[in-house]
Amino acid sequence: MKLTFFGVGYVGLVSGVCLADLGNEVTLVGRNEVKIEDLKKGIVPIYEPGLDKLIKKNRENLHFTTNSASAIKASEVLFVAVGTPSNKDGSCDLSQVEDVSKIIAQHIDKPKVIVIKSTVPVGSDEMIRKIIKSKYKGDFSIASNPEFLREGSAISDFMKPDRVVIGTEDEWSKKVLDKIYRAQKVPIIHTDIRSAQLIKYASNAFLATKITFINEMANFAEKVGGNIEKIAEGMGYDKRIGSEFLKAGIGYGGSCFPKDVKELIFAGKSHNSPFHVLQAVDEVNNKQKIKPVEKLEKMMNLKDKTVGVIGLSFKPNTDDIRDASSIDILFALLKKGAKIKTWDPIAEQRMQTIFPKIEYCPTPYEALAKVDAAIIVTEWDETIKLDLKKVKKLMKKPVIIDGRNCLDKETALKLGFKYQGIGR
Ligand code: UGA
Repeated sequence: MKLTFFGVGYVGLVSGVCLADLGNEVTLVGRNEVKIEDLKKGIVPIYEPGLDKLIKKNRENLHFTTNSASAIKASEVLFVAVGTPSNKDGSCDLSQVEDVSKIIAQHIDKPKVIVIKSTVPVGSDEMIRKIIKSKYKGDFSIASNPEFLREGSAISDFMKPDRVVIGTEDEWSKKVLDKIYRAQKVPIIHTDIRSAQLIKYASNAFLATKITFINEMANFAEKVGGNIEKIAEGMGYDKRIGSEFLKAGIGYGGSCFPKDVKELIFAGKSHNSPFHVLQAVDEVNNKQKIKPVEKLEKMMNLKDKTVGVIGLSFKPNTDDIRDASSIDILFALLKKGAKIKTWDPIAEQRMQTIFPKIEYCPTPYEALAKVDAAIIVTEWDETIKLDLKKVKKLMKKPVIIDGRNCLDKETALKLGFKYQGIGR
Protein backbone atom coordinates (compact mmCIF):
# COMPACT_ATOMS: atom_id res chain seq x y z
CA MET A 1 0.00 0.00 0.00
CA LYS A 2 1.01 3.62 -0.32
CA LEU A 3 1.40 5.16 3.13
CA THR A 4 2.38 8.64 4.27
CA PHE A 5 3.83 9.38 7.71
CA PHE A 6 3.89 12.81 9.31
CA GLY A 7 6.78 12.87 11.79
CA VAL A 8 10.29 11.48 11.57
CA GLY A 9 10.96 11.01 15.29
CA TYR A 10 11.23 7.61 16.98
CA VAL A 11 7.66 6.53 16.30
CA GLY A 12 7.21 7.94 12.78
CA LEU A 13 10.60 6.96 11.45
CA VAL A 14 10.72 3.46 12.91
CA SER A 15 7.09 2.59 12.04
CA GLY A 16 7.42 4.04 8.54
CA VAL A 17 10.67 2.24 7.80
CA CYS A 18 9.35 -1.06 9.21
CA LEU A 19 6.16 -0.80 7.16
CA ALA A 20 8.29 -0.16 4.07
CA ASP A 21 10.22 -3.32 4.95
CA LEU A 22 6.90 -5.17 5.11
CA GLY A 23 6.27 -4.27 1.46
CA ASN A 24 4.54 -0.89 1.51
CA GLU A 25 5.62 2.25 -0.29
CA VAL A 26 6.16 4.82 2.43
CA THR A 27 6.59 8.59 2.26
CA LEU A 28 7.88 10.25 5.42
CA VAL A 29 7.22 13.96 5.88
CA GLY A 30 9.30 16.17 8.16
CA ARG A 31 9.54 19.93 8.68
CA ASN A 32 13.28 20.15 9.14
CA GLU A 33 14.95 20.31 5.73
CA VAL A 34 18.41 19.38 7.02
CA LYS A 35 17.01 16.27 8.72
CA ILE A 36 15.12 15.24 5.58
CA GLU A 37 18.16 15.82 3.34
CA ASP A 38 20.24 13.73 5.77
CA LEU A 39 17.67 10.93 5.72
CA LYS A 40 17.74 10.94 1.91
CA LYS A 41 21.49 10.31 2.19
CA GLY A 42 20.94 7.55 4.76
CA ILE A 43 22.02 9.67 7.73
CA VAL A 44 19.72 8.80 10.63
CA PRO A 45 18.96 11.63 13.09
CA ILE A 46 18.33 9.32 16.07
CA TYR A 47 20.36 6.52 17.56
CA GLU A 48 18.40 3.31 17.11
CA PRO A 49 20.23 0.02 16.57
CA GLY A 50 19.63 -1.43 13.09
CA LEU A 51 17.62 1.50 11.74
CA ASP A 52 20.29 2.75 9.32
CA LYS A 53 20.61 -0.70 7.76
CA LEU A 54 16.84 -1.06 7.39
CA ILE A 55 16.64 2.36 5.70
CA LYS A 56 19.38 1.36 3.26
CA LYS A 57 17.68 -1.98 2.55
CA ASN A 58 14.37 -0.27 1.71
CA ARG A 59 15.74 2.68 -0.25
CA GLU A 60 13.40 1.93 -3.15
CA ASN A 61 10.26 1.89 -0.99
CA LEU A 62 11.08 4.93 1.13
CA HIS A 63 10.68 8.60 0.28
CA PHE A 64 11.64 11.50 2.53
CA THR A 65 10.19 14.94 1.89
CA THR A 66 9.22 18.29 3.35
CA ASN A 67 6.51 18.65 0.72
CA SER A 68 3.29 17.78 2.55
CA ALA A 69 0.99 18.51 -0.40
CA SER A 70 2.50 15.88 -2.68
CA ALA A 71 2.89 13.42 0.21
CA ILE A 72 -0.83 13.72 1.02
CA LYS A 73 -1.80 13.24 -2.60
CA ALA A 74 0.52 10.22 -2.93
CA SER A 75 -1.21 8.02 -0.33
CA GLU A 76 -4.55 6.61 0.68
CA VAL A 77 -3.47 6.34 4.33
CA LEU A 78 -1.97 9.23 6.32
CA PHE A 79 -0.31 8.42 9.64
CA VAL A 80 0.07 11.20 12.20
CA ALA A 81 3.19 10.35 14.20
CA VAL A 82 4.42 13.71 15.49
CA GLY A 83 5.53 14.45 19.03
CA THR A 84 3.07 15.17 21.83
CA PRO A 85 5.25 16.49 24.66
CA SER A 86 4.04 17.80 28.03
CA ASN A 87 2.86 21.32 28.68
CA LYS A 88 4.01 22.93 31.93
CA ASP A 89 0.78 21.91 33.68
CA GLY A 90 1.28 18.24 32.72
CA SER A 91 -1.31 18.27 29.95
CA CYS A 92 -0.45 17.05 26.48
CA ASP A 93 0.83 19.64 23.99
CA LEU A 94 -1.14 18.90 20.82
CA SER A 95 0.24 21.76 18.75
CA GLN A 96 2.14 19.50 16.33
CA VAL A 97 -0.95 17.32 15.81
CA GLU A 98 -2.96 20.47 15.19
CA ASP A 99 -0.41 21.73 12.65
CA VAL A 100 -0.47 18.43 10.73
CA SER A 101 -4.30 18.42 10.77
CA LYS A 102 -4.31 21.91 9.26
CA ILE A 103 -1.90 20.79 6.54
CA ILE A 104 -4.06 17.74 5.77
CA ALA A 105 -7.16 19.97 5.69
CA GLN A 106 -5.47 22.20 3.15
CA HIS A 107 -4.34 19.47 0.75
CA ILE A 108 -6.68 16.49 1.08
CA ASP A 109 -8.55 16.07 -2.20
CA LYS A 110 -10.24 12.67 -1.95
CA PRO A 111 -11.28 10.15 0.75
CA LYS A 112 -8.39 8.98 2.90
CA VAL A 113 -7.84 7.20 6.20
CA ILE A 114 -6.10 9.35 8.79
CA VAL A 115 -4.40 7.20 11.42
CA ILE A 116 -3.32 8.73 14.72
CA LYS A 117 -0.15 7.01 15.90
CA SER A 118 0.99 9.77 18.24
CA THR A 119 0.01 9.29 21.87
CA VAL A 120 -2.94 11.67 22.23
CA PRO A 121 -5.57 12.26 24.91
CA VAL A 122 -9.03 10.85 24.46
CA GLY A 123 -11.11 12.98 22.13
CA SER A 124 -8.18 14.38 20.11
CA ASP A 125 -9.63 12.67 17.04
CA GLU A 126 -12.58 15.03 17.27
CA MET A 127 -10.26 18.01 17.19
CA ILE A 128 -8.57 16.63 14.06
CA ARG A 129 -11.93 15.88 12.43
CA LYS A 130 -13.13 19.42 13.09
CA ILE A 131 -10.01 21.01 11.63
CA ILE A 132 -10.20 18.92 8.46
CA LYS A 133 -13.94 19.44 8.05
CA SER A 134 -13.47 23.20 8.26
CA LYS A 135 -11.73 23.12 4.86
CA TYR A 136 -12.60 19.81 3.19
CA LYS A 137 -16.17 18.74 2.52
CA GLY A 138 -15.49 15.23 1.18
CA ASP A 139 -15.30 11.88 3.02
CA PHE A 140 -12.43 10.80 5.22
CA SER A 141 -11.99 8.42 8.12
CA ILE A 142 -10.07 8.71 11.38
CA ALA A 143 -8.53 5.78 13.24
CA SER A 144 -6.32 5.31 16.28
CA ASN A 145 -3.35 2.94 16.09
CA PRO A 146 -1.10 3.58 19.10
CA GLU A 147 2.49 2.39 19.05
CA PHE A 148 4.16 0.36 21.79
CA LEU A 149 7.78 0.27 20.62
CA ARG A 150 10.62 1.00 23.02
CA GLU A 151 13.66 3.07 22.18
CA GLY A 152 16.71 0.87 21.79
CA SER A 153 14.70 -2.17 20.67
CA ALA A 154 12.26 -0.29 18.44
CA ILE A 155 12.61 -2.39 15.29
CA SER A 156 12.00 -5.77 16.91
CA ASP A 157 9.23 -4.25 19.05
CA PHE A 158 7.53 -3.01 15.87
CA MET A 159 8.09 -6.18 13.87
CA LYS A 160 7.11 -8.58 16.66
CA PRO A 161 4.68 -6.69 18.87
CA ASP A 162 2.67 -8.39 21.63
CA ARG A 163 -0.40 -6.89 19.98
CA VAL A 164 -1.55 -4.33 17.46
CA VAL A 165 -4.34 -2.02 18.63
CA ILE A 166 -6.71 -0.67 15.98
CA GLY A 167 -9.39 1.79 17.06
CA THR A 168 -11.91 2.60 14.36
CA GLU A 169 -15.43 3.80 13.88
CA ASP A 170 -16.17 2.52 10.38
CA GLU A 171 -15.56 -0.61 8.31
CA TRP A 172 -13.39 1.08 5.69
CA SER A 173 -10.61 2.21 8.05
CA LYS A 174 -10.80 -1.11 9.91
CA LYS A 175 -10.25 -3.02 6.66
CA VAL A 176 -7.41 -0.73 5.55
CA LEU A 177 -5.55 -1.09 8.86
CA ASP A 178 -6.16 -4.84 8.99
CA LYS A 179 -4.59 -5.12 5.55
CA ILE A 180 -1.52 -3.15 6.68
CA TYR A 181 -0.94 -5.27 9.79
CA ARG A 182 -2.09 -8.66 8.47
CA ALA A 183 1.46 -9.50 7.38
CA GLN A 184 2.71 -9.46 10.97
CA LYS A 185 0.56 -12.36 12.16
CA VAL A 186 0.15 -11.00 15.71
CA PRO A 187 -2.98 -10.51 17.82
CA ILE A 188 -4.98 -7.53 16.58
CA ILE A 189 -7.27 -5.83 19.09
CA HIS A 190 -10.14 -3.96 17.46
CA THR A 191 -11.76 -1.27 19.54
CA ASP A 192 -13.45 2.08 19.28
CA ILE A 193 -11.14 5.08 18.95
CA ARG A 194 -11.37 6.21 22.60
CA SER A 195 -10.54 2.78 23.97
CA ALA A 196 -7.51 2.54 21.67
CA GLN A 197 -6.25 5.90 22.90
CA LEU A 198 -6.75 4.82 26.49
CA ILE A 199 -5.06 1.44 25.98
CA LYS A 200 -1.87 3.33 25.19
CA TYR A 201 -2.05 5.59 28.27
CA ALA A 202 -3.16 2.76 30.53
CA SER A 203 -0.29 0.52 29.38
CA ASN A 204 2.40 3.14 29.91
CA ALA A 205 0.93 4.28 33.24
CA PHE A 206 0.63 0.68 34.44
CA LEU A 207 4.27 -0.09 33.56
CA ALA A 208 5.37 3.14 35.28
CA THR A 209 3.37 2.05 38.33
CA LYS A 210 4.99 -1.40 38.29
CA ILE A 211 8.47 0.16 38.28
CA THR A 212 7.51 2.59 41.02
CA PHE A 213 6.04 -0.17 43.15
CA ILE A 214 9.26 -2.20 42.98
CA ASN A 215 11.29 0.93 43.73
CA GLU A 216 9.31 1.61 46.90
CA MET A 217 9.60 -2.04 47.85
CA ALA A 218 13.37 -1.74 47.32
CA ASN A 219 13.52 1.29 49.60
CA PHE A 220 11.57 -0.66 52.23
CA ALA A 221 13.83 -3.72 51.86
CA GLU A 222 16.80 -1.44 52.56
CA LYS A 223 15.23 -0.57 55.90
CA VAL A 224 14.06 -4.02 57.01
CA GLY A 225 16.44 -6.35 55.18
CA GLY A 226 15.89 -8.41 52.03
CA ASN A 227 17.21 -8.35 48.48
CA ILE A 228 14.95 -6.64 45.92
CA GLU A 229 16.30 -8.76 43.06
CA LYS A 230 15.24 -11.96 44.83
CA ILE A 231 11.92 -10.36 45.80
CA ALA A 232 11.25 -9.37 42.17
CA GLU A 233 12.28 -12.83 40.95
CA GLY A 234 9.93 -14.47 43.42
CA MET A 235 7.08 -12.16 42.39
CA GLY A 236 7.80 -12.46 38.66
CA TYR A 237 7.23 -16.23 38.53
CA ASP A 238 3.58 -15.54 39.30
CA LYS A 239 2.10 -15.30 35.79
CA ARG A 240 -0.45 -12.79 37.01
CA ILE A 241 2.41 -10.43 37.90
CA GLY A 242 5.05 -11.27 35.26
CA SER A 243 8.78 -10.74 35.58
CA GLU A 244 9.24 -7.73 33.30
CA PHE A 245 9.52 -4.12 34.44
CA LEU A 246 10.35 -5.15 37.99
CA LYS A 247 13.93 -3.88 37.97
CA ALA A 248 14.44 -1.52 40.88
CA GLY A 249 16.59 1.51 40.26
CA ILE A 250 16.62 5.28 40.07
CA GLY A 251 13.19 5.72 38.54
CA TYR A 252 11.75 5.75 35.06
CA GLY A 253 12.65 8.48 32.57
CA GLY A 254 12.40 9.01 28.83
CA SER A 255 9.96 10.77 26.57
CA CYS A 256 6.94 8.57 27.34
CA PHE A 257 6.29 7.31 30.88
CA PRO A 258 6.77 10.67 32.65
CA LYS A 259 4.65 12.63 30.17
CA ASP A 260 1.89 10.02 29.86
CA VAL A 261 1.54 9.66 33.64
CA LYS A 262 1.36 13.46 33.94
CA GLU A 263 -1.26 13.75 31.19
CA LEU A 264 -3.48 11.11 32.83
CA ILE A 265 -3.19 12.93 36.17
CA PHE A 266 -4.15 16.17 34.42
CA ALA A 267 -7.04 14.60 32.49
CA GLY A 268 -8.29 12.77 35.60
CA LYS A 269 -8.47 16.05 37.49
CA SER A 270 -10.20 17.85 34.62
CA HIS A 271 -12.86 15.12 34.40
CA ASN A 272 -13.31 14.97 38.16
CA SER A 273 -12.01 11.39 38.20
CA PRO A 274 -8.62 11.79 39.87
CA PHE A 275 -5.86 9.20 39.48
CA HIS A 276 -4.68 9.01 43.10
CA VAL A 277 -2.35 6.09 42.35
CA LEU A 278 -0.65 7.91 39.49
CA GLN A 279 -0.21 11.07 41.54
CA ALA A 280 1.75 8.97 44.02
CA VAL A 281 3.67 7.26 41.18
CA ASP A 282 4.80 10.62 39.81
CA GLU A 283 5.80 11.88 43.25
CA VAL A 284 7.68 8.71 44.24
CA ASN A 285 9.47 8.56 40.89
CA ASN A 286 10.71 12.15 41.20
CA LYS A 287 12.19 11.34 44.61
CA GLN A 288 13.67 8.04 43.43
CA LYS A 289 15.68 9.80 40.74
CA ILE A 290 17.95 11.50 43.27
CA LYS A 291 18.28 8.53 45.66
CA PRO A 292 21.99 8.07 44.81
CA VAL A 293 22.76 11.65 45.87
CA GLU A 294 20.90 11.15 49.16
CA LYS A 295 22.84 7.96 49.77
CA LEU A 296 26.16 9.70 49.09
CA GLU A 297 25.27 12.58 51.36
CA LYS A 298 24.86 10.16 54.25
CA MET A 299 28.41 8.97 53.59
CA MET A 300 30.21 12.27 52.94
CA ASN A 301 29.85 16.06 52.72
CA LEU A 302 29.63 16.56 48.96
CA LYS A 303 30.97 20.12 48.97
CA ASP A 304 34.10 20.23 46.75
CA LYS A 305 34.10 16.44 46.33
CA THR A 306 34.41 15.03 42.82
CA VAL A 307 31.78 12.52 41.76
CA GLY A 308 32.07 10.26 38.70
CA VAL A 309 28.68 9.83 37.01
CA ILE A 310 28.59 6.78 34.74
CA GLY A 311 25.92 6.90 32.03
CA LEU A 312 23.61 9.79 31.10
CA SER A 313 20.90 8.45 28.80
CA PHE A 314 17.56 7.45 30.36
CA LYS A 315 18.36 3.82 29.56
CA PRO A 316 21.00 1.95 27.51
CA ASN A 317 21.04 1.80 23.69
CA THR A 318 19.68 5.29 23.22
CA ASP A 319 21.14 8.80 23.24
CA ASP A 320 17.84 10.17 24.56
CA ILE A 321 18.15 12.17 27.77
CA ARG A 322 14.57 13.45 27.98
CA ASP A 323 13.44 13.27 31.62
CA ALA A 324 16.49 11.12 32.38
CA SER A 325 17.34 10.57 36.06
CA SER A 326 20.87 11.75 35.24
CA ILE A 327 19.61 15.34 34.85
CA ASP A 328 18.13 15.38 38.37
CA ILE A 329 21.28 13.74 39.74
CA LEU A 330 23.63 16.25 38.08
CA PHE A 331 21.54 19.21 39.30
CA ALA A 332 21.42 17.78 42.84
CA LEU A 333 25.20 17.17 42.90
CA LEU A 334 25.96 20.68 41.64
CA LYS A 335 23.58 22.14 44.24
CA LYS A 336 25.55 20.34 46.97
CA GLY A 337 28.77 21.91 45.67
CA ALA A 338 30.21 18.74 44.13
CA LYS A 339 32.38 18.62 41.01
CA ILE A 340 31.36 16.21 38.29
CA LYS A 341 33.19 13.97 35.85
CA THR A 342 30.98 11.95 33.57
CA TRP A 343 30.92 9.46 30.72
CA ASP A 344 28.31 8.20 28.30
CA PRO A 345 29.03 6.48 24.98
CA ILE A 346 26.50 8.51 22.96
CA ALA A 347 24.43 10.91 25.07
CA GLU A 348 27.26 13.33 25.93
CA GLN A 349 26.53 15.82 23.16
CA ARG A 350 22.89 16.16 24.18
CA MET A 351 23.80 16.58 27.85
CA GLN A 352 26.31 19.31 26.99
CA THR A 353 23.40 21.53 26.00
CA ILE A 354 22.10 21.41 29.60
CA PHE A 355 25.40 21.08 31.50
CA PRO A 356 28.11 22.72 29.39
CA LYS A 357 30.56 23.12 32.26
CA ILE A 358 30.94 19.64 33.76
CA GLU A 359 33.79 17.37 32.66
CA TYR A 360 32.93 14.84 29.94
CA CYS A 361 35.36 11.93 29.62
CA PRO A 362 35.93 9.59 26.68
CA THR A 363 35.92 6.41 28.81
CA PRO A 364 34.26 5.37 32.08
CA TYR A 365 37.71 4.79 33.57
CA GLU A 366 38.73 8.38 32.90
CA ALA A 367 35.48 9.56 34.48
CA LEU A 368 36.32 7.55 37.59
CA ALA A 369 39.98 8.58 37.91
CA LYS A 370 40.67 10.44 41.16
CA VAL A 371 37.02 10.79 42.15
CA ASP A 372 35.67 10.64 45.71
CA ALA A 373 32.64 8.58 44.69
CA ALA A 374 30.90 7.04 41.70
CA ILE A 375 27.23 6.96 40.76
CA ILE A 376 26.07 4.39 38.23
CA VAL A 377 23.20 5.91 36.25
CA THR A 378 22.86 3.88 33.02
CA GLU A 379 23.50 0.17 32.67
CA TRP A 380 25.42 0.33 29.40
CA ASP A 381 27.38 -2.81 28.46
CA GLU A 382 30.58 -0.91 29.24
CA THR A 383 29.16 -0.11 32.69
CA ILE A 384 28.23 -3.70 33.48
CA LYS A 385 31.64 -4.91 32.32
CA LEU A 386 33.66 -2.36 34.31
CA ASP A 387 36.89 -3.89 35.65
CA LEU A 388 36.33 -3.11 39.33
CA LYS A 389 39.94 -3.90 40.26
CA LYS A 390 41.11 -1.25 37.83
CA VAL A 391 38.39 1.14 39.04
CA LYS A 392 39.51 0.68 42.65
CA LYS A 393 43.06 1.72 41.75
CA LEU A 394 41.83 4.77 39.84
CA MET A 395 39.35 6.21 42.35
CA LYS A 396 40.50 8.46 45.18
CA LYS A 397 37.97 6.81 47.50
CA PRO A 398 36.29 3.47 46.72
CA VAL A 399 32.65 4.51 47.04
CA ILE A 400 30.05 3.31 44.52
CA ILE A 401 26.33 3.97 44.46
CA ASP A 402 24.93 1.59 41.86
CA GLY A 403 21.63 3.15 40.74
CA ARG A 404 20.85 0.24 38.40
CA ASN A 405 22.01 -2.74 40.48
CA CYS A 406 24.16 -3.70 37.51
CA LEU A 407 27.57 -4.29 39.12
CA ASP A 408 28.57 -7.46 40.95
CA LYS A 409 27.99 -6.53 44.58
CA GLU A 410 30.02 -9.44 46.03
CA THR A 411 33.09 -8.55 43.93
CA ALA A 412 32.77 -4.89 44.84
CA LEU A 413 32.59 -5.66 48.57
CA LYS A 414 35.47 -8.15 48.37
CA LEU A 415 37.63 -5.54 46.67
CA GLY A 416 36.93 -3.18 49.58
CA PHE A 417 34.45 -0.83 47.92
CA LYS A 418 31.83 0.91 50.00
CA TYR A 419 29.08 -0.29 47.68
CA GLN A 420 25.36 0.48 47.82
CA GLY A 421 22.78 -0.57 45.27
CA ILE A 422 19.04 0.05 45.34
CA GLY A 423 17.31 -2.38 47.69
CA ARG A 424 20.02 -5.03 47.73
C1 UGA B 1 8.05 3.02 26.79
C2 UGA B 1 7.20 1.74 26.69
O1 UGA B 1 7.93 0.64 27.24
C3 UGA B 1 6.84 1.43 25.23
O2 UGA B 1 5.98 0.29 25.18
C4 UGA B 1 6.11 2.65 24.62
O3 UGA B 1 5.81 2.46 23.26
C5 UGA B 1 7.00 3.88 24.76
O4 UGA B 1 7.32 4.10 26.16
C6 UGA B 1 6.23 5.05 24.20
O5 UGA B 1 5.19 5.40 24.76
O6 UGA B 1 6.59 5.55 23.12
P1 UGA B 1 10.63 3.64 26.40
O7 UGA B 1 10.28 4.96 27.01
O8 UGA B 1 11.40 3.62 25.14
O9 UGA B 1 9.28 2.79 26.12
O10 UGA B 1 11.50 2.84 27.47
P2 UGA B 1 11.28 1.65 28.52
O11 UGA B 1 12.13 0.53 28.12
O12 UGA B 1 9.87 1.37 28.77
O13 UGA B 1 11.93 2.31 29.84
C7 UGA B 1 11.40 3.47 30.45
C8 UGA B 1 12.12 3.79 31.74
O14 UGA B 1 11.81 2.82 32.74
C9 UGA B 1 13.65 3.80 31.63
O15 UGA B 1 14.16 4.91 32.33
C10 UGA B 1 14.08 2.51 32.30
O16 UGA B 1 15.36 2.60 32.88
C11 UGA B 1 13.00 2.38 33.37
N1 UGA B 1 12.81 0.97 33.81
C12 UGA B 1 12.32 0.04 32.95
C13 UGA B 1 13.10 0.63 35.13
O17 UGA B 1 13.53 1.46 35.95
N2 UGA B 1 12.88 -0.68 35.54
C14 UGA B 1 12.39 -1.62 34.69
O18 UGA B 1 12.21 -2.78 35.13
C15 UGA B 1 12.11 -1.26 33.37
